[in-house]
Amino acid sequence: MEILQNDLLLRAARGERTERVPVWMMRQAGRILAEYRAVREKAGNFIKLATTPELAAEVTLQPVDLLGVDAAIIFSDILVVPEAMGLPYEMEEKRGPVFPQVVKTVADIEQLRVADPEEHLKYVLDAIKIVKQELNGRVPLIGFAGAPFTIFCYMVEGKGSKTFSVAKKALYADPQFSHALLQKITDSTIAYLKAQVAVGANLVQIFDSWAGILSPEQYRTFSLPYIKQICDALADSVPVTVFAKGAFFARQDIGQLNCSVVGLDWNMDAAESRQLIPTKTLQGNLDPCVLYADYAQIRTEVTKMLRSFGTHRYIANLGHGVYPDTDPDKVRCFIDTVKSYSSK
Ligand code: CP3
Repeated sequence: MEILQNDLLLRAARGERTERVPVWMMRQAGRILAEYRAVREKAGNFIKLATTPELAAEVTLQPVDLLGVDAAIIFSDILVVPEAMGLPYEMEEKRGPVFPQVVKTVADIEQLRVADPEEHLKYVLDAIKIVKQELNGRVPLIGFAGAPFTIFCYMVEGKGSKTFSVAKKALYADPQFSHALLQKITDSTIAYLKAQVAVGANLVQIFDSWAGILSPEQYRTFSLPYIKQICDALADSVPVTVFAKGAFFARQDIGQLNCSVVGLDWNMDAAESRQLIPTKTLQGNLDPCVLYADYAQIRTEVTKMLRSFGTHRYIANLGHGVYPDTDPDKVRCFIDTVKSYSSK
């Protein structure tokens, strides 16, 4: 069995008491660091960086070395799953991800394959192997995937959107099509996450970034059942974190999944969330915009957050990914405040 020098995150995820609160940041491996931008420059573009295991491993380790977080998260993207299913994406500078082809019909779904991670996502697994070696047990490694509904949004719409109304239209107009695609994504995601665990991921997080655009009923119909399948498939291996951005209305349901941790965004109140999700570890939920404030205010806000969540069954994080124009010293202030407050 692997012995970790710092296993605070895993113990907190399992509900054990820890000497202090573990802390990491969603999207920590990325554009906030000049060191990341230098490696990305060297790679040429985002996709080259993500598909070159040595470089992906290098930027995965940067926040551990440079920011002092209690976990690494593998550098990749949620959109590698549709790519592995046969729907390639491009990453456009400033605009974000774009799929030149989208999924429109049941025939299109049949054209797609269930991803075989050993074949179609080998570069991620290779990156994980390098990271594990380089970490040498310093901190745990987090694996991840998008939730099926969030991936569905991109595959149907082809690009980011404020409303994802084309994808949501499919849910109303063609539930059969929608369920067929969601199931194929789910099967691919389960295989992918199991493969990440097999090569050393110590915990996996499911990002349902677009959960908040659904009604509670739609969420129960089109997102939750697929996340449930993923949680059930992984339950006997590593802790699973479910982060459903904006889905304040689904906290009770999510709290009943076979997962260890529930991620919260900054719209969700700590005490209310504890009440709705009494048996899980909670993760979150500082507004990333707090990191634009001055140091004193950051300390005040982080301390408030720690008081409201308490130090047990809690993993400190932001309520969503860190914004790219955040000063790394402000990020360090956030991390150091969590560490010093909660070890008192
Ligand atoms: O540090 C980490 O958290 C690991 C890396 C990571 C990336 N993407 C790298 C990335 C993770 C966990 C993701 C997840 C992801 N990707 C999500 C879910 C989390 C969330 O933010 O809600 C989503 C919705 C995506 C899709 C995506 N990828 C978008 C919308 C964009 C463009 C806008 C943006 O946020 O950057 C990306 C590009 C992307 N993924 C970048 C990085 C570092 C920026 C590309 C670059 O470096 O130029």
